[in-house]
Amino acid sequence: MHGDSRVVALVPAAGMGVRLGESTPKAFVPVGGSPMLTLALQGLIASGSVDEVVVMVPAELVDQTRALLPATDIPIHVVPGGAERTDSVRAGLDAAPDATLVLVHDAARALTPPALIARVVAQLHAGAQAVVPALPVTDTIKSVDATGAVTGTPDRSTLRAIQTPQGFDARLLRAAYATTIQATDDAGLVELLGATVHTVPGDALAFKITTPLDLVLANTLVAQGGISVPVQQRDQDREAVANT
Ligand code: CTP
Ligand code: MG
Repeated sequence: MHGDSRVVALVPAAGMGVRLGESTPKAFVPVGGSPMLTLALQGLIASGSVDEVVVMVPAELVDQTRALLPATDIPIHVVPGGAERTDSVRAGLDAAPDATLVLVHDAARALTPPALIARVVAQLHAGAQAVVPALPVTDTIKSVDATGAVTGTPDRSTLRAIQTPQGFDARLLRAAYATTIQATDDAGLVELLGATVHTVPGDALAFKITTPLDLVLANTLVAQGGISVPVQQRDQDREAVANT
């Protein structure tokens, strides 16, 4: 807890993982021997920044998911998600009536460093209404028309690739989800409501495991031991972040 705030992390994990092409829904596919969902939850817990978690999974996997949850003092609720990611997030919001600050964090970003999660929450505590992790793009991005012909090349220096967790004032995110507007991410919804969305530095390790190539990378990273999921981030790390 931080003052009167209650930080609830919503973890969308109800997708099928069509692009990954495994036989189980993606969040349950193992990386380094542990399901992606378990790794994502360990990262949230290790951040020391989250008071409660709601996980949205395919309805038929609710009971099995409870058996995968890491041991923690933090309450973790498991609820059925929906057909689209937005439906799953809406289900999570409904299951988190006491939240004052909300993180939305894809289970598919299983290797997200706890320090990134803490950075997002620190910005919320500092008063930001919406916060997203951002990385410079390394490819040149072009727009194209229906025939594939290039219609423009936006200035790359103004572009960012956006990751999760995305953090919000809970009332703002609820207001966004109460509308019928459409966007490709949660921050896009609140942008359309006119709210300012702040960025914090993202992290390459927070990449979304989407394709078989991503899964090879994730397994390799864990096998190399270059990344580990700490049980709890060191207290001084947390204080350093809290003081920024
Ligand atoms: N997700 C969800 N509910 C849905 C769709 C997606 O909770 N109806 C979750 C996924 O489980 C994932 C996150 O949203 O953790 C990001 O979605 P994505 O990477 O697209 O995962 P999938 O939808 O599972 O993959 P694909 O689009 O390849 O089927
Ligand atoms: Mg999807």
